[in-house]
Amino acid sequence: MQTLVVANPKGGSGKTTLATNAAGWLAGRKQRVVLADFDPLRAATEWLARRPPLFPAIGGWTPDGAKRELKGEPPQWLVIDTPAELHGESLRDAMRRADILLVPVSPSAFDMGATRHFLDQISEYKAVKKGEIAIGLVAMRVDPRTISAGELEEFLEGFDYPLVAHLRQTQVYVYCARDGLSVFDLPRSRGEQDWEQWRPLTRWLARQAAVKND
Ligand SMILES: Nc1ncnc2c1ncn2[C@@H]1O[C@H](COP(=O)(O)OP(=O)(O)OP(=O)(O)O)[C@@H](O)[C@H]1O
Ligand SMILES: [Mg+2]
Repeated sequence: MQTLVVANPKGGSGKTTLATNAAGWLAGRKQRVVLADFDPLRAATEWLARRPPLFPAIGGWTPDGAKRELKGEPPQWLVIDTPAELHGESLRDAMRRADILLVPVSPSAFDMGATRHFLDQISEYKAVKKGEIAIGLVAMRVDPRTISAGELEEFLEGFDYPLVAHLRQTQVYVYCARDGLSVFDLPRSRGEQDWEQWRPLTRWLARQAAVKND
């Protein structure tokens, strides 16, 4: 099983959006995926509860033992959504489990400052030093017309980790969150622009593990 952790201690950076959409992409690729919700506010669990039954199945798990079972074989993927303020032992625990870490970063000085601190912190971990965890940065809520988008790009390029996607600011994510969907569950006419933006991310994910991607 591959474990994909989505983390950034900055509140509202886009973790749950990234985790739910990554889980939706994997499920759409016929991968058996469980979305583990480490956030006591349970946004990912509530998203899963809103998911319409006809869409590709995603299992659920919370540390207090609540489960949404996937029928049949064991899962191939665990996607972990982590809370804001993740630090100390909880951060260590999440990092111990991670094969892949995705870090969403929004274009603001506050977000960039918190992200720098976070990436400095995890760079001290043995597994990160040894390159055992594949770490990818995701520019979230990007509007390419803005100065802050350029500043975010420059900031993210300053790290040794790859910048694996730029995802635009759009109400599509807000509606998907409301409806228990990922952008990959939308019809082509509504999802295509965002599928395109996810492509470098899903290709990168697929390279970290053998997921059939097209
Ligand atoms: N690309 C986007 N376009 C538009 N809205 C977005 C985008 N990404 C996230 N949002 C919205 O921004 C808000 C915060 O995003 P999200 O909940 O994913 O962040 P988070 O890091 O999980 O927050 P928390 O730290 O509170 O768990 C949500 O309302 C979400 O729908
Ligand atoms: Mg969240």
